[in-house]
Amino acid sequence: MTGSYEQVYSQWQQDPERFWMEAAGMIDWIQSPSRALDPDTGAYGSWFADGVTNTCHNCLDRHVAAGRGEQAALIYDSPITDRKRSISYAELLAEVQAFAAALSDMGIGKGDRVIIYMPMIPEAVVAMLACARLGAIHSVVFGGFAAAELATRIDDSEPKLIVSASCGIEPGRIVAYKPLLDQAIEMAQHKPGATIVFQRPELACSMMAGRDHDYAELMDSHAGRVIDCTPVAGTDPLYILYTSGTTGQPKGVVRDNGGHMAALYWTMHAVYGVKPGEVFWAASDIGWVVGHSYIVYGPLLHGNTTILFEGKPVGTPDAGTFWRVIAEHRVAVLFTAPTAFRAIRKEDSSGSFVAEHDLSGFRALFLAGERADPDTIQWAEKLLNVPVIDHWWQTETGSTIAGNPMGLGLLPVKHGSPAVPMPGYDVRVLDDAGHPVARGTLGNVVVKLPLPPGCLPTLWNAEERFREAYLAEFPGYYKTADAGYIDEDGYLFIMARTDDIINVAGHRLSTGGMEEAVSAHPDVAECAVVGIADTMKGQIPAGFIVLNSSNGRDPALIEAEVVRLVRDRIGPVAAFKTVMTVKRLPKTRSGKILRATMQKIADGEAWKMPATIDDPAVLEEIAAVLTARGIGQHKD
Ligand code: COA
Ligand code: AMP
Repeated sequence: MTGSYEQVYSQWQQDPERFWMEAAGMIDWIQSPSRALDPDTGAYGSWFADGVTNTCHNCLDRHVAAGRGEQAALIYDSPITDRKRSISYAELLAEVQAFAAALSDMGIGKGDRVIIYMPMIPEAVVAMLACARLGAIHSVVFGGFAAAELATRIDDSEPKLIVSASCGIEPGRIVAYKPLLDQAIEMAQHKPGATIVFQRPELACSMMAGRDHDYAELMDSHAGRVIDCTPVAGTDPLYILYTSGTTGQPKGVVRDNGGHMAALYWTMHAVYGVKPGEVFWAASDIGWVVGHSYIVYGPLLHGNTTILFEGKPVGTPDAGTFWRVIAEHRVAVLFTAPTAFRAIRKEDSSGSFVAEHDLSGFRALFLAGERADPDTIQWAEKLLNVPVIDHWWQTETGSTIAGNPMGLGLLPVKHGSPAVPMPGYDVRVLDDAGHPVARGTLGNVVVKLPLPPGCLPTLWNAEERFREAYLAEFPGYYKTADAGYIDEDGYLFIMARTDDIINVAGHRLSTGGMEEAVSAHPDVAECAVVGIADTMKGQIPAGFIVLNSSNGRDPALIEAEVVRLVRDRIGPVAAFKTVMTVKRLPKTRSGKILRATMQKIADGEAWKMPATIDDPAVLEEIAAVLTARGIGQHKD
């Protein structure tokens, strides 16, 4: 299907079955699917259910067979360790086969779960693809999560094996992963039979005899092994990726094999406008969905060269790193979170580093993960002189819900809007009662079912939770839990979440989960966590605590302990550093904490006294505490 956005979207609307069968035709099937959607199975239908395929074959073997063996599949660029490595498709295939053989010899096969808890190193990508090769289901856990979060994911996914590394490296500190791994296994009810640990030269770790296996030794002993791709159904799970829910229990988003490949392949040319052979860089982390879709699977399925960047936009070594990587590796398209650009701008507002690099091959910057503020977009546009494209998606969808499709011809840009729905997505805005709202009116953003290929078919071992969380509130629609509106030109504006999820530096976190951790402090009687505006990270969490009345301890001491507690339970990624002791929390007469009003006060936004408030004086107290900390301003 080709043509302009309008033509392609309308081709999809008129014949979705044909549209997706054509998309599926771009990948290799062991047995081609007889149809795209089976409306009678799954929570809302299932995609390519009778097709048989393998994702690793489509990422590697097929490209080597087609003559792409010598092309770089992956360029590892690690300014934080000062290492670089280019791995060709043929080399990556050989490494993946060796690792798959090791996994297979350790009893891993189709349907088994494997957790991957690793930093941004090529071995992590090898582990993901080796699982895909065997039909095993990987679950990558972001390195910035603490042991307790890893333990929750171990108990939910029940892995046979965990692949990890001795350490991760953050600016100024080495994060020892192995003690976190050991602690998580200790805490979890489910005990994986084995681990494989990659020893990094920066910090070696001790190994437990009988349980822990050395990555390098296994690779040596399995080098040269040839191992076939295991045939899997289009609907078999490729991976589980946990994302924040409204409680401390994360949601295990399931991704299938067939729909995922068809959808991602389509986006590589239609949304990002790249051709096979070009270099694509998603500056994210493999622990997030952006990393899954656009560091690993999307570019490799499409025969691109992908960049695995182990560093930060600033400080490794400076705010010119991104331009250096783009120039050195001839990156055509970069995808990152707006927060990265806010960080760069803060350090180098005039963009002085850009002039040091040849960015002539660079065509477009894509932003997602959080709302792209128009100010940052305009700054980037001026600095880089390429289209800067905001697009909106979620862990659940795995690729763009709404965007400005570069490969179909860019539509006019409206700052503050991720543009228009992609084929597959019939996006509507409904009021709380489920009625459509007028254009320009804020409401609940929903997607008419069925969801397109690549979206989550369910939550791991939690079909009922899936229905409850996404399908129950607006029958016939998928609830995105984002609030927004569609303007008179059909452009979508995503303004806020409708649940307690906040976006911290492009990372999705649950304030409910943080409240669970805060409440665990013995001196805390009650608490509320809200996301407050932050110029660099978009939002940061702020905790309000009410202390037990019998407590005589210094509140400052308790606040510091609460910060520590959240860091230990959830991890440094929560960026939970602000805690304020208050006398009481503002509540409605039925006892509901007025978090939204607290957030407005903290952000210095206009707010109204809620009619249902139990005691209006409490909000004045909250405002006074915030003002004392220099946060927000109190306005009526
Ligand atoms: N392992 C261990 N710790 C990690 C980690 C990892 N993989 N990733 C982050 N952390 C730690 C950080 O070191 C930091 O710890 P600190 O509190 O001791 O300083 C904490 O978690 C918060 O990290 P982060 O939110 O990333 O803040 P930062 O100040 O280190 O960096 C940015 C801020 C904006 C530079 C960074 O978040 C960034 O590059 N973001 C944009 C790209 C991105 O990853 N987007 C996500 C989805 S697209
Ligand atoms: P995640 O699942 O981590 O990708 O986070 C998804 C959430 O991030 C969405 O539900 C939105 O709230 C937010 N988000 C992602 N991209 C955008 C965007 N381009 N504009 C506004 N919000 C976004």
